Amino acid sequence: MNLNESQKCFARSKLVAPGGVHSPVRAFSAVGGSPIFFKQGKGSKLTDEDNNEYIDFCMSWGALSMGHAHENVVSKIQEQVVKGTHYGTPTRLAVELAELAVQQLKPYEKIRFVNSGTEAVMTAVRLARGLSQKSKIVKIDGAYHGHLDSLLVSAGSGLVTQGESSSAGVTAGAVQDTLVIPFNNPEALEKVFAEHGQDIAAVIVEPILANNGLFEFDVSYLQKLRKVCDENCAFLIFDEVITGFRVHPQGAMGLYGVQPDISTYGKILGGGMPMGAIASYAKFLDGLAPTGKVYQAGTLSGNPVAMAAGLATLSSMIDEDYYGHVEQLGSYLDEKISALKDKNFVYKRVGAIFWLCPGTKDYPEGPNKISSHAAPAYAEIYHKLLRAGIYMSPSVFEVAFLTRAHTNSDIDQLVGALERL
Ligand SMILES: Cc1ncc(COP(=O)(O)O)c(C=O)c1O
Repeated sequence: MNLNESQKCFARSKLVAPGGVHSPVRAFSAVGGSPIFFKQGKGSKLTDEDNNEYIDFCMSWGALSMGHAHENVVSKIQEQVVKGTHYGTPTRLAVELAELAVQQLKPYEKIRFVNSGTEAVMTAVRLARGLSQKSKIVKIDGAYHGHLDSLLVSAGSGLVTQGESSSAGVTAGAVQDTLVIPFNNPEALEKVFAEHGQDIAAVIVEPILANNGLFEFDVSYLQKLRKVCDENCAFLIFDEVITGFRVHPQGAMGLYGVQPDISTYGKILGGGMPMGAIASYAKFLDGLAPTGKVYQAGTLSGNPVAMAAGLATLSSMIDEDYYGHVEQLGSYLDEKISALKDKNFVYKRVGAIFWLCPGTKDYPEGPNKISSHAAPAYAEIYHKLLRAGIYMSPSVFEVAFLTRAHTNSDIDQLVGALERL
């Protein structure tokens, strides 16, 4: 497999960017070898700098629900971009996307657009603290919520990939108000509230853990979270940066019927453009400046090109039956994988999100229980999959995504490659 151009790009990039990348997991340090540099995407396919073609199951880490260069998304971006890339003012496009998103996220009433999932989570945490006038935030061990200081403790995603549970540069002060509880453990939840209930501003959870393997909470646990937060006047924040608009039109809160107070979004909502959002009831979200006392701002927030991409993405997902299509593909993938003999990996799927974890036959009990054999086993199969034209996220802890652009034939190729491993 010729990867000369990618390797040359990486050598150049290492001279001018830390690790040669602009986000750590992309460096391939978890799977070895040199990262692949891409120049084009269309539908479910990506083409690299050496003209190798891959079926993409990373899909921009889940940002592309409709696949690469979806016609409607591209044309709406083009329409906007010739009229200017950003005005730094309110726009009709932002009104339209806010209306569409809020209609989908009912009973929420308002949304604020920001530029990334991290920003959305940072804002949600500040809002919960500002409104409750309490300081502590509870998070789940191993869950990743972006790279804001206060939640970079016992985090997943790139941090678990690097074998670290926290980050240098985060002061003790920044995390002193973060309380970490184990995954799906109701007793630990009760205990943390018994000890700190007076001071807890919010519990933040990714309602399906998808940054450190793929794990669902028991619905009864999510219901308990709701109840305990109510009893203690704490906010329940769902971080739906991955699950939002994906596992159900209303996200995980729609899938499980558990209603948080504040939710955060990113990825799908921006249709491949930088975007994040925080949604809630008017009574809470109006706590943000300029109506409220909790400050939040952004030069590029509500960027019209991102708004156009988001509008085109959400409306195309409905018009082109995204939900029906990915469920059909998912069931097909389930069937094909269960028919494989002697498979040395664990497979888990929730809607359009799936996870392959080699090196073990037992599905782990939670994010911190993933076998130590998984990472080296994944590194071993990763390059075989690449040679078979399959592009997955370059870390065993990251999940894979099905989109509206994938077909049964893409699934056949993935499963065929897994069979030949
Ligand atoms: C659940 C969750 N929250 C927050 C973030 C941070 O989003 P971003 O990378 O856009 O800052 C991510 C990113 O993967 C995420 O998966």
